[in-house]
Formats: sequence, C-alpha cells, structure tokens
Amino acid sequence: VVETTGEYSAYRERLYEHRRAGDAEALPVDPAELERAAAAVLSDVASAHVFGGAGGGETIRANREAFQRVRLVPRFLRDVSAIRLGRRVLGDELPAPLLLAPIGGQALVHADGERASARAAAALGIPVIASTRSSATPEQIAEAAGAGPRWFQLYWPADDGILASFVGRVERAGYSAIVLTVDCFTQGWRPLEIDLAGPLEVQGVGSEIFLSDPAFRSMLARPPEEDREAAGQLYRRARSHPALSWDDLGRLRELSSLPLVVKGILHPDDAREAVARGAAAVVCSNHGGRQVDGAIASLEALPAIVDAVGGSVPVLLDGGVRSGSDVVKALALGAAAVLLGRPFLYGLALAGEEGVDHVLRCLLGDLELTLALCGIASVAELDGRILSP
Ligand SMILES: Cc1cc2nc3c(=O)[nH]c(=O)nc-3n(C[C@H](O)[C@H](O)[C@H](O)COP(=O)(O)O)c2cc1C
Repeated sequence: VVETTGEYSAYRERLYEHRRAGDAEALPVDPAELERAAAAVLSDVASAHVFGGAGGGETIRANREAFQRVRLVPRFLRDVSAIRLGRRVLGDELPAPLLLAPIGGQALVHADGERASARAAAALGIPVIASTRSSATPEQIAEAAGAGPRWFQLYWPADDGILASFVGRVERAGYSAIVLTVDCFTQGWRPLEIDLAGPLEVQGVGSEIFLSDPAFRSMLARPPEEDREAAGQLYRRARSHPALSWDDLGRLRELSSLPLVVKGILHPDDAREAVARGAAAVVCSNHGGRQVDGAIASLEALPAIVDAVGGSVPVLLDGGVRSGSDVVKALALGAAAVLLGRPFLYGLALAGEEGVDHVLRCLLGDLELTLALCGIASVAELDGRILSP
C-alpha cells in the first residue's frame, strides 16, 4: 500500500516482496551495510580507488559530520498526497534534484563500468556526468546512455588541440554541459592508493579518451596500439594543466556554446569569479575528501557560496550525500541539486547496472518519503524553514 502518490516510494513494496520471498541475493538498503557489502567484494586496488581519501580522511568524515549536524523540523497536515521531485537544471528537466557524480576508472569496480552506471541513470532519466578519467570513451558512454541526459566532466588537458578535440567530440556525442573540475589538476596525497594501488594509469584505465582521440594520436609517431610507451609518456604530459588560471576560461567558452559548470568550489570568492567568467552553474565540492585533508566539508561551505552567487546561477553540491534526508538538507541550504558519488559505486560493485538502479531507487524512495513526512509536497517548496535554527 502506498499512501503517498510518489512513483519512487513504491520501490519499498518491491523490496518487501523480495524479502518475503526470501531472496538471498537481495542488495542491502541500509547505506552503511551497502558500503560494507561492496567493500567485501572489491579488490584491494578497487577499494583503494573507491575509498581513497586525502591524508587521514578528515574531510571524508567532515562531509558526513556536516550532514549530521543539520536537523530537520517536520511539519504536518499539509496535503502531501502527491509528491513532486522534478526540477529544471541548466535546461534539463530532471525527474529529481539528482545527478550521478563524475567518477573515473569504473572498470576497476565492475567489468561493465561506466556503461552500466550510464544505463541505470538513463533508465530513470537521471543525468550521468561522464568523467575525463572514464574507463570508456565519451562516445561509448553516450551510446550506453541512449536518449538519457548527459554532461561531460573535463580535466583540462595541457594541449589546446586536444582540448578542442575533446570539446568537439562531446558536443557531437550529445552531451549538454561541460563540467570543468578545478580541484584535481594533480591527485591529492592518498595513502591508501599509494600503499595498495598506484594511480589509475598503472591499472591501465582512465586514459581511454586520450588513446581514442585524433588530436592526441596525431602527436604520436606511431599509434598507441603499437607503441604504448610513447603514448603513456605523451599522456602523462598532456593529461592535466596545473598552470590553468581563471583567464583561460574564456578560451573554453569560445570553443563551445555548451553551458559551463565549474566543479570543486569551496570559497565564495571563487564562486563569484566562476560566475563572472561565465559559469552557468557551480558545484560546491571537495572531491569527496580526496584532495585536501582538512578541507572544509562541502555542506558547510554551501551557504556562503549560495549567498555569493545570489541566485544568479544554480549551486550544486556533492560530498557525503547518502540518504533522502541528506538531499533535503542540501536543498534546504540552497543547493539546486546534488551529485551522488560513492554510493552508486557500491551498487555497481555488487550488481553492475542493476546495483546502480537499486541504489538510485532507494535514494529516490527515501527522498520522496522524507519530503512527505516533512510536510513538503514539492522540492520547489523546500527552503531553510525546514531546518532547526
Ligand atoms: C573513485 C572516485 C573517482 C572520482 N573521479 C572523479 C573524476 O574523474 N572527476 C571528478 O570531477 N570527480 C571525481 N570524483 C569526485 C566525485 O565526482 C565527487 O565529487 C565525490 O565522489 C563526492 O563525494 P562522495 O562520493 O563521498 O559523496 C571521484 C570520486 C571517487 C570516489
């Protein structure tokens, strides 16, 4: 029986049925249990990739603690018989204020990698943000997403010809926004990764976009298939651009008319600068605590960033989003939508596309019920009034 007409909470009925039927394969619903189950099936290398954080993991913990500090004050008798989660972000009509965060190297987590997560997201109409460090090309991810919405996450390469080529490819492959990640021009100091795995390239994944790129290939005497060594050297020179500065953003805007989203913003002045340079949105993020240990929790940074942009562009948030109530809190603090990160990898690790579908449906069901039980019928009504002062 579904007492609130929301399409997502009905998933709980299916889960009850599975449990009644004694389905031994049933995936956990509890977020902590899901994480434990995924950890148990991942190799050391994949675990280091997924769970890796900068330094002692202070910022990973801070992201969660920031959510735990915020409290909701539910209201009642407000007709919540129909719940609406839909939200428009950068011209995309989203079924919910949710996107899949860009995550590279998903082949380490499951053989179907990015294609599986793109298919699961597309089936629900949730945008996937394809990473530059994907273990599939943007064209392959676009094909998996089919008619589903998709954005492309850019790590700005050191060569302008390669940059122009990437941009042209993602435009032709139907991506509708470019998300420039600014906080990871080099990886943070990640002890788990150093001890257990090494960077993605050592695992032979994450450079697919380069190896398949005509501009990149034209810079090699022999194709990568014949000379891996030379391709590897060029890749290490070309993959990032630590000299990049705000002044360069204009060049990207000239190359593409796609909306530009700047991801990795934690300071209000950087948010203002991004908007001044033409960003159509910003993502308040500390990269899931993978870059600077001791960096501010993204949820803690959010209100000042929302304030700084003053409604001129949407502010998205990621880092520590694990439940429906987390989404409600982020939106109440001014986020237009959130990016789901590690949890979808847990589903991917356990059951590929089906596992990602499960994680998304659980989150959406939880979100729908939490809103209803807070007395809020539509995400459009959500604001700071729901928060405990
Ligand atoms: C395994 C892994 C790989 C990631 N790869 C990328 C990437 O290629 N590009 C990017 O912008 N962010 C990347 N991120 C950061 C996520 O987009 C997001 O900011 C972060 O996962 C949010 O934190 P949470 O997963 O703890 O909620 C990665 C995160 C993880 C866990």
